[in-house]
Amino acid sequence: MNALIIKALAFAAVLIIATLVVVKQMHIDLSDPINLLTMIGAIAIAMLTAGVSAKYIAQMKTDRAGGELAEENWDGIGEYKNELPSGWAYSFLGTLIWAMWYWTVGYPVNAFSQIGQYNEEVKAYNKKFEAVHKNADKETLKQMGESIFLVQCAPCHGTTGDGLSGKAQDFTSRMTKAQVLHVINNGQHQLDFPMGAMPPGMASGKDAEDIAAWIAGGMKGEKPAAFAACASCHGADGKGNNGMAPDLVGYDLTLISHVLEHGKKGIIGRMPSFKTRITPVQEKALAEYIQSLKD
Ligand code: HEC
Ligand code: HEC
Repeated sequence: MNALIIKALAFAAVLIIATLVVVKQMHIDLSDPINLLTMIGAIAIAMLTAGVSAKYIAQMKTDRAGGELAEENWDGIGEYKNELPSGWAYSFLGTLIWAMWYWTVGYPVNAFSQIGQYNEEVKAYNKKFEAVHKNADKETLKQMGESIFLVQCAPCHGTTGDGLSGKAQDFTSRMTKAQVLHVINNGQHQLDFPMGAMPPGMASGKDAEDIAAWIAGGMKGEKPAAFAACASCHGADGKGNNGMAPDLVGYDLTLISHVLEHGKKGIIGRMPSFKTRITPVQEKALAEYIQSLKD
């Protein structure tokens, strides 16, 4: 037998043995017909690879270039006038056309992606969830809110909602004096309420101090006269003019959904947005639960 054929057989044997080692390592069950067929396919590919390589290596040893030379030559190096093999040329053209189709239409439009499929399934499931709980009563919502809270919010806000000693908002009261003062002095524009931005400097000095203390105290006792400057937007009762501005008294549904939608960065730190992760019913549930922490 010629040496090249022996080398090709050895090469095929190495490929097949390597495949078998991997199959053994991965505990693949070869009594399964699909696995067995795949294995037979792998062996055939190994043999073919070795055979084709041997054929071309043998050909390279004896082949001499021939045919008509092109007129141009570069430093004596010429080029044969070979026709493009038509099979090769058609495949090349076909590949180009396919690549353009794939880039422009195929992938972007018809793409299958696992993430896409997952998102579709979550969307469908959320729809079902919304339908089932459309008319959930207060008590159900509160319980639902509690379980969502424990998973999604408690890592920062604490299991009891106390804000983990100042690391996030403490839900047992609406706002501290420092928080209110911070907003009065700096304004705020991140929650996208219909009123738009809250401008800085709506009150200053003692007025600001008094207002902040009064709001932090739950708006009990005598209302500071200077609160009139705030009432135009937040309402005389501080409840936010039916959702036009934030409710300063409690965590109503409007405030909760604006915060969940946009996240918030304030004097305490940054709260991430939960935009795509919380459904409207879940927002209602969280509002119900968080409001109950303050009572
Ligand atoms: C021009 C209307 C307007 C006026 C006047 C106004 N606010 Fe606001 N306030 C807003 C809006 C709108 C927001 C929400 C801003 C955002 O999108 O982040 C807000 C946010 C706040 C917040 C933060 C609430 C939170 O939970 O994020 C506090 C506190 C606040 N205002 C207090 C006051 C006080 C105190 C005054 C008076 C000194 C006042 N505001 C005057 C419109 C106003
Ligand atoms: C990664 C930590 C983190 C997670 C998780 C988190 N929060 Fe927050 N949250 C914060 C921080 C920090 C603040 C205070 C922001 C500030 O300084 O005003 C805050 C503030 C808030 C406020 C008060 C906003 C205001 O304007 O007064 C609400 C309401 C809120 N979070 C609700 C939630 C809910 C509901 C969840 C669960 C779905 C949640 N948060 C999850 C960190 C977090």
